[in-house]
Amino acid sequence: RLARTRPYSNGPPLPPTYEKLYTKYSEVRRVLGAQRLTLSEKILYSHLNNVEESLLTNTNNGRDVRGKANLKLNPDRVNMQDASAQMALLQFMTCNLPSTVIPASIHCDHLIVGEHGAADDLTAGIKTNKEVFDFLESAAKKYGIDFWPPGAGIIHQTVLENYALPGLMMLGTDSHSPNAGGLSTITIGVGGADAVEALVGAPWELKAPKILGVRLTGKLNDWVSPKDIILHLAGLLTVRGGTGYIVEYFGPGVDTLSLTGMSTVTNMGAEIGATTSIFPFTPASSRYLQSTRREQAAKNAELFQNFPGAGSAEDAFFKFKADEGAQYDELIEIDLSELEPHINGPFTPDLSTPLSKFKETVKEENWPEKLSAGLIGSCTNSSYEDMTRVESMLKAAEEAGLKPAADFYITPGSEQIRATLERDGTLETFTQAGGIVLSNACGPCIGQWKRHDGVEKGTLNAILTSYNRNFRGRNDGNPDTMNFLASPEIVTAMAFAGSTTFNPTTDSLTTPDGKEFRFPAPHGLEGPKTPFDIGKKDLEVLSQAPDPNSSVAISPSSERLALLEPFDAFPSSDLTGLRVLVKITGKCTTDTISAAGPWLKYKGHLPNIAANTLNTAVNAETGEVNAAYDLDGSKHTIPELARKWKEADQPWLIVAEHNYGEGSAREHAALQPRYLGARIIVCKSFARIHETNLKKQGLVPLTFAEEKDYDKIDAGDEVATVGLYEMLQEGGQGEVSLKVTKKGTGEQFLVPTKHAVSSDQAGFILAGSALNLLAKGI
Ligand code: F3S
Repeated sequence: RLARTRPYSNGPPLPPTYEKLYTKYSEVRRVLGAQRLTLSEKILYSHLNNVEESLLTNTNNGRDVRGKANLKLNPDRVNMQDASAQMALLQFMTCNLPSTVIPASIHCDHLIVGEHGAADDLTAGIKTNKEVFDFLESAAKKYGIDFWPPGAGIIHQTVLENYALPGLMMLGTDSHSPNAGGLSTITIGVGGADAVEALVGAPWELKAPKILGVRLTGKLNDWVSPKDIILHLAGLLTVRGGTGYIVEYFGPGVDTLSLTGMSTVTNMGAEIGATTSIFPFTPASSRYLQSTRREQAAKNAELFQNFPGAGSAEDAFFKFKADEGAQYDELIEIDLSELEPHINGPFTPDLSTPLSKFKETVKEENWPEKLSAGLIGSCTNSSYEDMTRVESMLKAAEEAGLKPAADFYITPGSEQIRATLERDGTLETFTQAGGIVLSNACGPCIGQWKRHDGVEKGTLNAILTSYNRNFRGRNDGNPDTMNFLASPEIVTAMAFAGSTTFNPTTDSLTTPDGKEFRFPAPHGLEGPKTPFDIGKKDLEVLSQAPDPNSSVAISPSSERLALLEPFDAFPSSDLTGLRVLVKITGKCTTDTISAAGPWLKYKGHLPNIAANTLNTAVNAETGEVNAAYDLDGSKHTIPELARKWKEADQPWLIVAEHNYGEGSAREHAALQPRYLGARIIVCKSFARIHETNLKKQGLVPLTFAEEKDYDKIDAGDEVATVGLYEMLQEGGQGEVSLKVTKKGTGEQFLVPTKHAVSSDQAGFILAGSALNLLAKGI
């Protein structure tokens, strides 16, 4: 074992967490030699299933891995939130495994509505979602998954406090999973189908990301917080600027940040589209591990970094930071001393305005000057540091006799944070100031906010949050709520002023006795003086060995949960007799294919959620939204006709334009058409992730070899494939055409197509889905 292979055999043994990393990293070094590597590369490549194959295929002998190599990775664990865990677990169950192959956890956080305050909201949330929580808990018990009950906390905060360790690679079924990158992990947000691949022990594929380096220098000024780093960066890079990149922070400024501050920054890497973000391990990381009662983990990380022999002389040690001289594909420098607070929005996180310009921007843009609510906390900004900095402001305001002029909500990220803030008196300061402490759950961050302030849907109003996302309608479902993002300190200051034009660094408030009050600069503690309090016993994790004799709770009459049936395998011949269900024009995003909003409650019930399939797509022939015509000319909604054809065993295809399936990686957008009987999607181009998702569910994505052929096919036309079966059998090699027979005239012609089916994906399609194939091999 390891002790025999390492050159310094007298050294202390490595903890098990790092044994595997050490062995793999040694292989990476053997293949890549003394190439200078970024931290991201060290961790990512050390999780390769087959180091040599991944790093040498498609690359110039391992010299240009980024953007070229197709990485097959073995993550260390999977973390799932309750909304996305439902379909992930239902898919996992079709594999008939007795337990997950790698550790996993479920976090009940997305389904609790924020309304009156923590206690009432939690009781109501548990009642409304009981069958979903019962299902998740029973599945956790059967398969040996950690279960964090409703009220225990928001996934990313809980993961950071309990599971994140430097050097790990994790997947999370939520976009903000990179929160754990603050603690030097590679954590990537994925859909349920990807999570299941990892849960069954199959390698998870990723095109080797490029690395965007962000060099931090200087030190943040009084009113500036780590949140402002990412708010500023989002403004620079826009919501797509990080696509295909890992954002890696480095430089002397890193050492001035708290661990939770670094996590806020990596959390919001999702807002620039980055694959993930990461910080090096610093003394602050070590302090955080200690305060979250993981002293041994802190020692292990130190031990590992000083453990010699994994590489050649220069890179013999695996330090949780980039090698000296490592190259970045892009480089941005930020001088923290020059940074000022930023406010981003409304409606997009990349519309970034420095605080000093915000007042004039509000006036110029005619944005509401009245602030109707300030909301702080969430998975992004509920650290001890964030909360105690706000506490210092509240205490100063209290002394001056001031209360917030706008509604003021606080969402603790976890029970651990909440209990510690309660123990240390911070929560009392919040409630004395009139703040409403919501449950340790997502609540208003994900549209689960019932407002009682008279702001009705359709009323223009402004709110400020310290959350991470601000798409239209995101918080209260009101498309006219202008939602701005800022640090908790700026949100709090503006909540006291009740105004979006207030600048706490220059402006004063008037106290009840007529005096001028200026907020002193916020100050707080990086972490509690004594380790975090665990909190209420009944909110602790249920950590359990798999219990194969227990059953999973799904009522056959449930409207929210339904067991999945594996999809049919591909026939042993080309496809014939397909009909075009609908020809779509314009944008067709994953939201068009599977709408969110009220449909979210059916995420665990494929037949029910399928009733929204393509319900906002535009019919190219009639210009109507959600209209499809049967062969006899009768008009239906698209999902109605799809279901009718499914029941009549009439397989179908969709014809669409460019970038089909853009938007979030929602797996339901592939599952639903497949469930309803689609076999092929043919379009002018695909969004890459959705194209992969289609193949995972056994659908065949084809693009027109000649774009103009889009004009030749219409709804109701009959289609047969030519060469498809052979191409699949040949592992993705070969040409595929569509033989079209026009409805009405019977005219026939061939439409040449292109495809990007790899040999693995050909296997998925032949088996009926990736899971069918995986289940076969298990
Ligand atoms: Fe939840 Fe909002 Fe974070 S939905 S996981 S609090 S981004």
